[in-house]
Amino acid sequence: MQQLKINGGHRLVGEVRASGAKNAALPILAAGLLTAEDLVLHNVPDLADVRTMLQLLEGMGVRVDRKGTDVTLNAGAIVSTKAPYELVKTMRASVLTLCPLVTRFGHAEVSLPGGCAIGARPVDQHIKGLKQLGADVEIKEGYVVARAGRLQGTRIVTDMVTVTGTENLVMAAVLAEGRTVIENAALEPEVVDLCNCLNAMGAKIEGIGTSRLTVEGVDVLHGAEHTVIADRIEAGSFFVAAVVTQGDILVTHCEPHHMEAVLDKLREAGAQLDIGRDWVRVRMTGRPKPVSVRTVPHPGFPTDMQAQFMTMNCFAEGTASVTETIFENRFMHVPELMRLGARISIDGHTAMVEGVPSLTGATIMATDLRASASLVIAALAAKGSSTVDRIYHLDRGYERMEEKLRSLGADIVRVRA
Ligand code: EPZ
Repeated sequence: MQQLKINGGHRLVGEVRASGAKNAALPILAAGLLTAEDLVLHNVPDLADVRTMLQLLEGMGVRVDRKGTDVTLNAGAIVSTKAPYELVKTMRASVLTLCPLVTRFGHAEVSLPGGCAIGARPVDQHIKGLKQLGADVEIKEGYVVARAGRLQGTRIVTDMVTVTGTENLVMAAVLAEGRTVIENAALEPEVVDLCNCLNAMGAKIEGIGTSRLTVEGVDVLHGAEHTVIADRIEAGSFFVAAVVTQGDILVTHCEPHHMEAVLDKLREAGAQLDIGRDWVRVRMTGRPKPVSVRTVPHPGFPTDMQAQFMTMNCFAEGTASVTETIFENRFMHVPELMRLGARISIDGHTAMVEGVPSLTGATIMATDLRASASLVIAALAAKGSSTVDRIYHLDRGYERMEEKLRSLGADIVRVRA
């Protein structure tokens, strides 16, 4: 088991480059199944979840050529339409292969993802929409087994805003017969990036970036070349690290217009922001002001930044509330932060955070991806040394995090426990 050893109290200063967005790369890699031609991708982050998705695709017969952040896929000779439990249980986004497989090959056998630390995270909306498009779908021995002739376009209204649900259903619709309208579609930049990539492949999607997507089905999709957008959550995590260490960080190759809600909250906390076309500089002197947040679908404050802002509020001059409306169990970083001396009380979906002048290092345990980032950030600003355990959670969504933090002046090393 690997751990991160951190000696806190160092101001983070310098420049760091945002990687490609995990949550855009994963659906776009799955979209490679939709064509027999090469899908040439750039800015694909080197993450555990991306490696798992590539392994899953290779197991189906997709040819994968990877050089650094460039990945070329070719699904011209698929040998299997099965996503096995052994891989799906480690990466829920494997469910994004379900609809591409059904709409192109008429068959898919994808393991149900199973539980997740932050919530039950069912995929009922993915299944409901696929059935509405004409597929026969049943759950057999923990697998979603779907069969279909050519899917038939229809109108779908998802019961709630679902990011991968929207992505899966768009990928089903692009090769369906006729028109599909998806209402209540997710607006996340990663959904937009997938739709732009699909249109580059010859799909006909309109309303991109709105909650009403209209897809005219086509008979075949061709290859394309696409650059994945920057990771707004990785960038946001570095911004919070700059605030709590009273540092000065320039994040380059990011997309400020994808992060407006987070940037507004950083200003509210008293950070000084300079914003360019593809860069953001965050400077902080003194303790942050308390900033209450409530997670909602994009363009509101993102749930994937909730844990990081909980950490920031631990150091604030005052009390703030943090309300999580998307997932039912996304406060597991709270007891770990309290081991560092944080003062947090939870009442249902809301945590009240009473800021303290400083936290004290300790051994803490990562429980899920964004919680692990919030613990690393807290340890960077805490007095003394901390050990963060189970950092495989961090590696799922952050590319070389400790290297990037060291380049900013952090005292952090990865050790094998
Ligand atoms: C995506 O998960 C992201 N993952 C998550 O990022 C992110 O937190 C989440 O969207 C919300 O923004 C990827 O894109 C790979 P949802 P997803 O479907 O699509 C319920 C990270 O840290 N729901 O938008 O699984 C669900 O339980 C990860 O990078 C159903 O009930 O989230 C949740 O309460 C964590 N039935 C809510 O909707 C369904 O069929 C939103 O979930 C689908 C979802």
